[in-house]
Amino acid sequence: MQLFVALAFIFQFLPVFGVTPCRTLCGSIAIKYPFGVDDGCGAPQYRQMLNCTNDLFFVTPSGRYKVQSIDYEKKTMVVYDPAMSTCAILQPHHDFVMSDIQSVIIPPTSDTVFALLNCSIDSPVLNHYKNLCFDFAGHSCDELYGACNAFRIFHSLTNSSPPCCFTGYDTVKYMSMNILDCTHYTSVINTDSLSGIGPLDWVYGIKLSYSVPDTGCERCTRSGGTCGYDTETGVMMCLCSTSSNSTRECAAGSMGDIGGVEKLSLWTNFHAFAFVLGAFIYLM
Ligand SMILES: *[C@@H]1O[C@H](CO)[C@@H](O)[C@H](O)[C@H]1NC(C)=O
Ligand SMILES: *[C@@H]1O[C@H](CO)[C@@H](O)[C@H](O)[C@H]1NC(C)=O
Ligand SMILES: *[C@@H]1O[C@H](CO)[C@@H](O)[C@H](O)[C@H]1NC(C)=O
Repeated sequence: MQLFVALAFIFQFLPVFGVTPCRTLCGSIAIKYPFGVDDGCGAPQYRQMLNCTNDLFFVTPSGRYKVQSIDYEKKTMVVYDPAMSTCAILQPHHDFVMSDIQSVIIPPTSDTVFALLNCSIDSPVLNHYKNLCFDFAGHSCDELYGACNAFRIFHSLTNSSPPCCFTGYDTVKYMSMNILDCTHYTSVINTDSLSGIGPLDWVYGIKLSYSVPDTGCERCTRSGGTCGYDTETGVMMCLCSTSSNSTRECAAGSMGDIGGVEKLSLWTNFHAFAFVLGAFIYLM
């Protein structure tokens, strides 16, 4: 009987846990403003861009890209496309497509280089749009075709080097792989320091640079709240506790409330625990 009462006691107070509705961690990656993995958290501009199912994924119209890291100081995020070809693995090509808003607020950085591989001689980047290809720290197609197991096949089939092109995100943004007439692409990050370093040692992935909307989140955070938005209107909101949201900042009293509730729940659970222990010992 005592045990039953004790259990009932615990369950009654369990829902009190989890005062903030916003997760702050997904896997090993911290989730902070402007990002959110729960609807209504973070900045509305980034709504539904991140998906947390065990690991963190960046969601675009072309797929789900695993987030490797987020640097909140530099405001960058590194994502990896598991279906992309790299030096080690050749995979069928597919396009990297971002939504219009994504390509404005979280575009790839200028130190992310896209290498278009095995292009046909009719490819626009070898003809009319030749100037979109740039010298990539002195690296050449031959070097890629030669050094990478995955890309050697382009070389060996024809016994010559099919053209390739090192270019920026804008090129793949405006021209699909079909239009570009290249069969594969790969992308490399941190390209500012790759002169003299071979393709085997490059880091493959896409680095994105995000902007933080200036919506007064600091004011909310300072008052102890979490920045979010109304899921119906998309208007910014300061999430203060499970029972109160405000438009800008949390009222002086609301944090006290949370503190009080948390203390109460801890206290209660401690009591309940002692109670269960007591009951257990009693039964023994
Ligand atoms: C506060 O906002 C969160 C996230 O949008 C929502 O889940 C919650 O129901 C809101 N609470 C109130 C009292 O409006
Ligand atoms: C995240 O992705 C999974 C798998 O695609 C999907 O089932 C789930 O609904 C998504 N969650 C959110 C919040 O979008
Ligand atoms: C390279 O491109 C040619 C057409 O330009 C294509 O026939 C060939 O299959 C491609 N090589 C690979 C390995 O995909």
